[in-house]
Amino acid sequence: MMASSTPYAAAGVLAVMVAALCLHGAAAQLVEDYYDDTCPDAYDIVKQTLIEAHQSDTRIYASLLRLHFHDCFVQGCDGSILLDNMTGFQTEKEAVPNMGSARGFPVVDAVKAALEDACPGVVSCADILALAAEISVELSGGPKWGVLLGRLDGLTSSIAGANNLPAPFENLTVLERKFSDVGLKDLVDLVALSGYSARTSLIPRRTGSTTSAAQICLTRP
Ligand code: HEM
Repeated sequence: MMASSTPYAAAGVLAVMVAALCLHGAAAQLVEDYYDDTCPDAYDIVKQTLIEAHQSDTRIYASLLRLHFHDCFVQGCDGSILLDNMTGFQTEKEAVPNMGSARGFPVVDAVKAALEDACPGVVSCADILALAAEISVELSGGPKWGVLLGRLDGLTSSIAGANNLPAPFENLTVLERKFSDVGLKDLVDLVALSGYSARTSLIPRRTGSTTSAAQICLTRP
């Protein structure tokens, strides 16, 4: 993703907005130094794994950022998008906005494995997604921010919630409501975040299209 100053600015807003989004519904206080004592190399381990993944998949940073967004928008940032299907239990992965387009799961698994080697049972999957999103923005040339940590992993997955993620065909009224429902009440949040999605979606896509859903969001009345 070769970005101009415009997406840099958008990513700056993104840092604040994603933090707000992640705090939505979280009961505990998140802090930047949560793993400083228990897993001091966590940040570097995640970063190294992402850099290695990027060597064979240049789209991975964008995909990991989107994964975090799709996790946070459904019952908060609890890692529930990572849960796999079990008998009688439909998951967020199977929801329309995720099925076939949410990607990066093997890289998240690789990060988790590396962290388990270094400090078993310490870093939550929800925090891995948050760290991966922040590091992805940073490695893409965007700003760096102190991502807040200390999330607990969710034990449930909501396919209904995931099916309610913002969709490319929805009008501004509906999108405003959906962002507002997760605590992003300022229209600026919607425009900044959707603009970021539009920009990152200029990366060559598996569909070959360069028009993202969020671009449509922004141009619809
Ligand atoms: C109005 C709200 C939004 C809509 C309707 C929307 C929809 C979409 C759609 C349909 C795609 C293409 C998925 C595919 O087929 O591969 C996409 C890509 C993407 N979106 Fe959004 N999005 C929105 C907001 C956001 C936000 C808030 C973020 C980040 C915080 C985000 C990050 C991304 C990224 C990084 C990609 C590229 C993913 C990849 O290449 O794997 N989007 N978006």
